[in-house]
Amino acid sequence: MVFGSGTIILLLLLFSVFGYCKAAECNFFAGSWVVDETYPLYTAASCPFVEHEFSCVKNGRPDLGYTKYRWQPLHCDLSRFDGKLFLEKLRGKSILFVGDSLSRNQWQSLTCMLHSAVPDAPYTVTRVGDVSTFTFTEYEVKVMLERNVYLVDVVKEDIGRVLKLDSINGESAKLWESVDFLIFNTWHWWNRRGPSQPWDYIEIGKEVLKDMDRMIAFEKAVTTWGRWVDLNIDPKRSKVFFQGISPSHYNGTLWREPRAKSCAGQTEPVAGSVYPGGLPPAVDVMKAALSKVKKPVQLLDVTELSLLRKDGHPSNYGLGGRVGLDCSHWCLAGVPDTWNLIFYNLIILPS
Ligand SMILES: *[C@@H]1O[C@H](CO)[C@@H](O)[C@H](O)[C@H]1NC(C)=O
Repeated sequence: MVFGSGTIILLLLLFSVFGYCKAAECNFFAGSWVVDETYPLYTAASCPFVEHEFSCVKNGRPDLGYTKYRWQPLHCDLSRFDGKLFLEKLRGKSILFVGDSLSRNQWQSLTCMLHSAVPDAPYTVTRVGDVSTFTFTEYEVKVMLERNVYLVDVVKEDIGRVLKLDSINGESAKLWESVDFLIFNTWHWWNRRGPSQPWDYIEIGKEVLKDMDRMIAFEKAVTTWGRWVDLNIDPKRSKVFFQGISPSHYNGTLWREPRAKSCAGQTEPVAGSVYPGGLPPAVDVMKAALSKVKKPVQLLDVTELSLLRKDGHPSNYGLGGRVGLDCSHWCLAGVPDTWNLIFYNLIILPS
């Protein structure tokens, strides 16, 4: 006998420790923000089409420190974004963001990152109905956005507009099935009430209700979406991602600055890797719903890293200008660039 049983147990232990380290090394979502003078990845000048809503610099935001942070995972490095490599590897392929304005934020970020990498490459932008398509024509790469805030259907019926928690529309779904990379998101609209709530009734199973617990409704909708993925996605054809919950900053107590009532005037991230206020409750609900999906769905777990960025929102330098106060969306260049950098590391440079 060459090995004693003690040796074998030692080897098994070593293997399991190495296995563990390898998995732990690749958690891109735990880390901290570090100053990097080579940032931002693009500027307002190198991305002329970035929307007014996200163009904080153009809207007069005086501090630029918030554009200079790079996300550093705890146990591994992210490769730097190479837009040319991205377009070459994805030649002929399509990417579709589906969701609310946070999806639009990430879509704009990716188009800016790619355009500034290949400023001379021709592109077209079209919009048909709820779908915007940014095409890098020479690479035949399409980066698309579908505005679809609940993922499940809202249907006009005799009684009014009905939000159907069990139903996913055939027309959207046809588009989803034809795309190579899908990045879904829904959350921010589930708490809308009053005039900005775009439905009158909510349907769950055979019941039609005036309202219900919004967190349960959200969970139900993500579950319906997951069932759609299980029934319709061919994992060899399409890779499915979920954007996760993008957090807002309207309560300074959560970052140990109780006098702050919003993100206004914030110029620095929270130091370290842990947000003092913890994760919003919707994160657990979303993760529970995603865990029921049998087909591969990769969560872009952006919540914690974005929570640390109380400085990253447009605040008074967004759509509403001086009178508006936006602590939900993100300035571009800015935080969504990191969401896309992680997406890039996951799809272009696997392990
Ligand atoms: C801010 O968060 C703290 C801690 O969770 C909570 O006690 C407080 O009510 C919140 N304030 C507002 C205005 O929501």
